[in-house]
Amino acid sequence: MNYTLMHKNISVADIEIDEDTGVIIRIGDIFAKEHLPLGVVHPLHHKETVDKAALNKWWMGRSIPASRMGINEALETLGIYNTQVLLTKCLGLSLSDHYWVRPSDSDMTWESVNFFDNDFSDDIGDVLFGSADKSLDFDYASPDNTSDGNLQKRWKIIDGERCLLKSGSAPYRQQPFNEVIASVILDKLGIDHVPYTLTWIDNKPYSVCKDFVTKNSELISAARLMQIRPKENNENGYLHFVNICKELGIDVVPMIDRMIVLDYIIANEDRHYGNFGLLRDPDTLEWIGFAPIFDNGTSLYYDKLTTQISTANLKCKPFKKTHGEQIRLVSTFEWLDLSKLDGIEEDIIAVFSSDKTADFVDSERAGAIAALVRKRIDRLSEMIPVQKDIQSLDTDEDEPNEDEAESYGMKIE
Ligand SMILES: Nc1ncnc2c1ncn2[C@@H]1O[C@H](COP(=O)(O)OP(=O)(O)OP(=O)(O)O)[C@@H](O)[C@H]1O
Ligand SMILES: [Mg+2]
Repeated sequence: MNYTLMHKNISVADIEIDEDTGVIIRIGDIFAKEHLPLGVVHPLHHKETVDKAALNKWWMGRSIPASRMGINEALETLGIYNTQVLLTKCLGLSLSDHYWVRPSDSDMTWESVNFFDNDFSDDIGDVLFGSADKSLDFDYASPDNTSDGNLQKRWKIIDGERCLLKSGSAPYRQQPFNEVIASVILDKLGIDHVPYTLTWIDNKPYSVCKDFVTKNSELISAARLMQIRPKENNENGYLHFVNICKELGIDVVPMIDRMIVLDYIIANEDRHYGNFGLLRDPDTLEWIGFAPIFDNGTSLYYDKLTTQISTANLKCKPFKKTHGEQIRLVSTFEWLDLSKLDGIEEDIIAVFSSDKTADFVDSERAGAIAALVRKRIDRLSEMIPVQKDIQSLDTDEDEPNEDEAESYGMKIE
């Protein structure tokens, strides 16, 4: 079927989508090259044509990932084979950006279809949460068809606000609590972030956050930004991202510093390039700044036995393989006042205090998590004077320099 790829009300390109597979099989006229998703214009090609494979990768990347918890059951309920075919059923509309596809024979406008202003159906969310009635004729108009990430999640309109509800994983279902703990830490440190709260559905915990994207801003992930140009030989992942943002006029170093510090404190294992990014004005394409920090739940040894909290091997993303290495990328700790986290242990215990919590995180585990955070803050505070001393010796280097940072010789693991 023929569609026009739209960015709000701007016609970007004519495309043909195979309804059976959801694949873009033909790209027609391009009307607004600058509004194409980043990285789909072949960078090395003389004629700068749109790369069909790259556009498909972007389009398929809008669908619910095959790794989503409970997706097989959901597909069975819906009677479909894969999540890509859901995309056209909601016109590819999302609550995280402003792209969509308009059937060629229609005169729909962004105002008439977008989910920021228009209500959406609960059906797909119910299917994803395993609570849908199979006999229903499903209404597919839902931003849940375009939501990313592995955890079970759904969008809900709560008191007129678009909110994302996210589950945890068995057995501890710790991620929703972790989101709240990260919010408390970020609040105390004064770092711009998406605030998360906790709710319970059928006696299971979920995190709730409001949509941080608006009609005038959209999220462009670091992963997509890094498609703008290939990594230079002298760039590592950190410099690739920082330099691209600098080329776009945004200095991300202060926010990356803060994100790395948070991830060190909470032992975050999943800060992949899809879990941070920039905000852009969809109309003017102006870059607004670093998106508020979000998705902090895969942390605090969420899937490890209580006895292994603080000792089990930790993953670290995106720039280095260990948090000890990654914290050395922080350009300055001048802004960081760790005394603001005095008493954080009590705040953490309070997050786990509801009666219902004990089925998932008992008091012993809650205590171990609180002690872990305290230990990591203390370890971090030991490093800070070391770094400040070394920076005061360094007068002619403004840029964050990884090799230099690595020579600080901080005692971190
Ligand atoms: N509050 C929000 N407002 C707008 N978009 C959001 C919001 N929270 C998340 N998103 C979008 O939804 C995606 C999935 O959400 P999130 O990263 O929180 O889920 P996840 O399942 O924990 O992801 P992962 O696979 O990284 O573990 C994000 O990458 C982002 O694009
Ligand atoms: Mg995520």
